[in-house]
This record gives sequence, C-alpha cells and structure tokens, in this order.
Amino acid sequence: MRVVSVVNMKGGVGKSTSVCMLAEALASQGGMRVLVVDLDPQSNASMMLAGLDQWSRLRETDRTLDAFFNQFVHGTEPRRFHEFIAPRVTDLMDEPQVDLVVATPEFRYVERDALDKFIRQGFLINAVQDRLARLTSSAIASVESRYDLVLFDCPPGISLFAEAAISMSEHVIIPTIPDYVSRLGIFAFRKRAVRAMEKRRFTEDSIFTLITKFDRNIMLHESEVQSLQASFATFNTIIPQNENIARAGEWSDIPRSFEQKYGDASAIVRALAAEFSEKIGLV
Ligand SMILES: Nc1ncnc2c1ncn2[C@@H]1O[C@H](COP(=O)(O)OP(=O)(O)OP(=O)(O)O)[C@@H](O)[C@H]1O
Ligand SMILES: [Mg+2]
Repeated sequence: MRVVSVVNMKGGVGKSTSVCMLAEALASQGGMRVLVVDLDPQSNASMMLAGLDQWSRLRETDRTLDAFFNQFVHGTEPRRFHEFIAPRVTDLMDEPQVDLVVATPEFRYVERDALDKFIRQGFLINAVQDRLARLTSSAIASVESRYDLVLFDCPPGISLFAEAAISMSEHVIIPTIPDYVSRLGIFAFRKRAVRAMEKRRFTEDSIFTLITKFDRNIMLHESEVQSLQASFATFNTIIPQNENIARAGEWSDIPRSFEQKYGDASAIVRALAAEFSEKIGLV
C-alpha cells in the first residue's frame, strides 16, 4: 500500500479535484483499491466523491473522521477505523473501489479539542502533534491489507492533521496554479514538507508539483510553467482549466461511465493517473 498526501498551503489550487480525479481514474481504469481520507472541514472531496445525500447519511450515523478522532479525545469506547469507511462511494458505473472517510465541518473542532485536552494534561504541543500522528498512522496501518493506495486530501493553511498526513506519506503531491505567488508559496511549503517527511527519511525526491488550471490564453501561464518545471520535480501532465473537470465535481444520481463523467478531459485524467502510478511506484 502507498500513502500519498495532496497538499498546498494555498487554497483553491485543485487539491480536492486532483484527489478525486486520481482516485476515480486509478480505481476505475486501473482496478486499484483506493481509500480517500478527507482531512478538510470544508468536506469538498467528500461531497464530490460521495454526493450530498450519502455524505449527510454518513454524518447522521457518525461515520466521519471527526467521530473517529473524537473517540480518543473524549475517551469513548473506540470503534475500529474500518467501521468509519464508506465503501465504493463514487457515481461511476461498475462501482470501482473508491472508499472514503468523510470529513464534516465539525472536524475543525477536533484539533482544537485535542489541543485543549492534552495540553491541560501537561503535554507540549509537539507531543500532541505526535499523538495525533500516531493515531492517524495506526488507523491507516489497520487497513493496510485492504488498499493499494491511500490518498489524503489536506486542507489549505496549516493543520496538525495535514502535518500528520505528510509525515506518514511516502509521497506528497503539491497542486499549483502556474502563477508567481503560487510558485513562491511552494518554496516555503516544500521546506516544511521535507522536514515533516525527514523523520521517515523521505526526501525532496518524494515531492511532486502538479500544475493545474492551466489556461493557454494566459501568456503568463506559459512562462510560469517553465519556471515551475525548472525549479521543482513536476508532473509532465498539466491539468488544463476545463469545464468538464469542474462539472465532474457534482455527484450524479445516475451512474455514469468515466468518459461521460470527464468528457473531453478523460484522456488527461487518465494520463495523470498513469504518470502518478509510475512516479509513486504503483505499477
Ligand atoms: N482543472 C480545472 N478546471 C476547471 N475548474 C477547476 C479545475 N480544478 C479545480 N477546479 C475548480 O476550482 C475550484 C477549486 O478546486 P478545488 O476545490 O479542487 O481546490 P482546493 O485546492 O482543494 O481548494 P481548497 O484549498 O479550498 O481545499 C473548484 O470549484 C473546482 O471545481
Ligand atoms: Mg480542497
């Protein structure tokens, strides 16, 4: 099993969209068993992959990531991690194995409550962080035989859970828009990611930049692509600004084929998945 975090401090760069595209392409086109773990209280990946109704049902029945972590923060009788996983959630035909642990808006309180409780007990913030990282890592280890790939969708900004995800990942993907401020952000962010990964002796070679929302009508995008490619290990596949990619985010009640879902972007999504598999050693 491979563990990969999709992360960028910057918001709106296509992190959740990339997670969904990768999960669906690898599961439906490559027959992979994929688990997506949504670490973002915005719950975008959860809603895109499972749809609003399924997401609401999971929320009502406490099969959410905040319910899983709250067991440890509030000291209730723990249910095992696999009980929180929603199986085969996507709207793609033939039910490929994209399993999901959903986030909810309440997830934002878990980190705060954990910090509050453990700091009161005399732990330092680093110890709290280590504890959350250990919980996350043993949760994922408990389902290791069931999956080929675990994808973490991380929130924008800084979060203890994103740090935990990075620290247990073999690879980190940083989606980025090809513009100047986004490129500057990556320099700082990569340093942090490397620090978090160093504990397990992974290095900068395990971090890949993925250019997203590329618009060929914007001249700046062309030159920024070149700068990104010169500065960082970058996917050759460039994700264009594309209407079908944006539309694919809306869950369909009627199951659809991969081509129906991604339309004229199907080939690029497949190419992304193929390059991803090769880069992280899934093939
Ligand atoms: N290649 C694309 N073409 C067109 N629209 C896109 C593309 N990628 C993402 N989008 C749209 O841009 C918006 C932001 O994308 P997304 O939610 O994936 O970004 P994010 O980095 O996860 O955001 P956040 O930081 O808020 O979590 C969404 O409305 C999404 O549908
Ligand atoms: Mg997101």
